[in-house]
Amino acid sequence: MNLVFIILCVLSTSHVTYGYTDNKVRRFKDGFMFGVATSAYQIEGAWNEDGKSESVWDRYTHAHPEDIADRINGDVACDSYHRYKRDVQMLRELGVDHYRFSVAWTRILPTGFKDEINEEGLRYYENLIDELLKYNIQPMVTLYHFDMPQSLQDLGGWTNPLIVNWFEDYARVLFDRFASKVKYWITINQPSSVCVDGFGDPALNVKENGDYTCVKYILLAHAKVYRLYENQFKSKHKGSVGISLDINWIDPYNKTTENDEAAERARSFKIGLYMNPIWSKHGDFPDKVKSIIAKKSEKQGLEQSRLPSLSADEIKLLKGSADFLGMNHYTTFLATPARDEHKSPSFADDLGVHLTHGAEWIASKSPWLKNAPYGIYKACVNINQEYDYPPVFITEHGWSTGPGRRDTRRVAVLTAYLAALLLAVEDGTELKGYTAWSLMDNVEWRAGTSERFGLYEVDFDSANRTRLVRTSGLVYKHIIESRDPGDGWMPSSYRINVSDRLQKREVREEL
Ligand code: NOJ
Repeated sequence: MNLVFIILCVLSTSHVTYGYTDNKVRRFKDGFMFGVATSAYQIEGAWNEDGKSESVWDRYTHAHPEDIADRINGDVACDSYHRYKRDVQMLRELGVDHYRFSVAWTRILPTGFKDEINEEGLRYYENLIDELLKYNIQPMVTLYHFDMPQSLQDLGGWTNPLIVNWFEDYARVLFDRFASKVKYWITINQPSSVCVDGFGDPALNVKENGDYTCVKYILLAHAKVYRLYENQFKSKHKGSVGISLDINWIDPYNKTTENDEAAERARSFKIGLYMNPIWSKHGDFPDKVKSIIAKKSEKQGLEQSRLPSLSADEIKLLKGSADFLGMNHYTTFLATPARDEHKSPSFADDLGVHLTHGAEWIASKSPWLKNAPYGIYKACVNINQEYDYPPVFITEHGWSTGPGRRDTRRVAVLTAYLAALLLAVEDGTELKGYTAWSLMDNVEWRAGTSERFGLYEVDFDSANRTRLVRTSGLVYKHIIESRDPGDGWMPSSYRINVSDRLQKREVREEL
């Protein structure tokens, strides 16, 4: 590894560019946190060991192996349940400040409820957390990352109003046990993927009526848990609680009134629906989304809108219920009004937008993911303008490839996105940290191991799931040390064009 690193340094000096067309060197400040992320189902394995019960993803992948690329599943995955010490060793090799991982609800409460607390499950996470803290790596813990206990899904999962209490019970068990050690908590990962894109209930995949009900209760569950921490744990333990939202940028395909409207509509349905109740001045769902769904519902002969309303108390509970915005950002989409008819009622029909990518954008291994670094800058600036500069933590960003360790494309993408982020910081974003997805290759849901996001490659055919660092892992280490993404291996074609930046609304501080 040292030899590879030396070669890389030599390479990097011969390729060195500044990240920007104005040749200014921009650096992340000391105190800015660099980390990597994973999630329980995607890495742990041990799906039925030590008291763990079945999650929706266990049920689904066992019943429909044919739906998963290469028929892999989370039964063993990266085997992190048994190999977490190796994971921590890798984190130390990278030199990260924090590690974002998720807890499997099914390991902690096998029935889904708090009637039975599984000590062995708690001990696994305790060991992991202690191992991290031993090396001064901050744990950032996600409570729910798509793996709902099947027992609760059978009762309606996120569409059952009682889930708000069940989630609170589960969170309390974790806060009671770990609040003294864990300072960063994330309640829910990507509610839009859960409620609209079929990750929360993979067996059903496309929901017809439950999507907005799910949105309501998943947000309320988040808020309830935020308040629980705020009222009972915060003053003593001084941690912070956020939520991770799926915030890809959406631009008009080209500048026409219709496309501008389509882009704005898509942002309201995909971002505003989750951001507004928590961060907007008046709380509640965005007016635009409320009125579109209400009108459609009326036309469909329904008495009430398919988007449930929020009561005054619920609006109050939700408003301000996050210490930071966890932003998962991967790509940018370009919007035009929908070309095809969608079945009605459906989310796609309500949205009425067709999303595509720029024809010239470089493609990853995932059909939905193309390179457009400026999008992360625009997303940050837009959030500042709409929601008055919330503190932001990038809780995921990454790039997929096939197998192989010379992942120069991932390196270029990583450095370009980090450079764009520094520009957002310069224009006022309160950015606390950046988290690369992912520490290592893992089970990419239905895409199995066909789309690999790891800074470490995992050999899924080896008994010990051998992990070997990729070029991107070495470059990330270098960036963490230098705090300067333009100082790594960044081809000049990826430079960030500073003249494209949007007008600054407010300059918070000089870098
Ligand atoms: C977001 C999800 O949180 C994560 O589970 C997934 O693997 C990555 N995106 C990449 O698709």
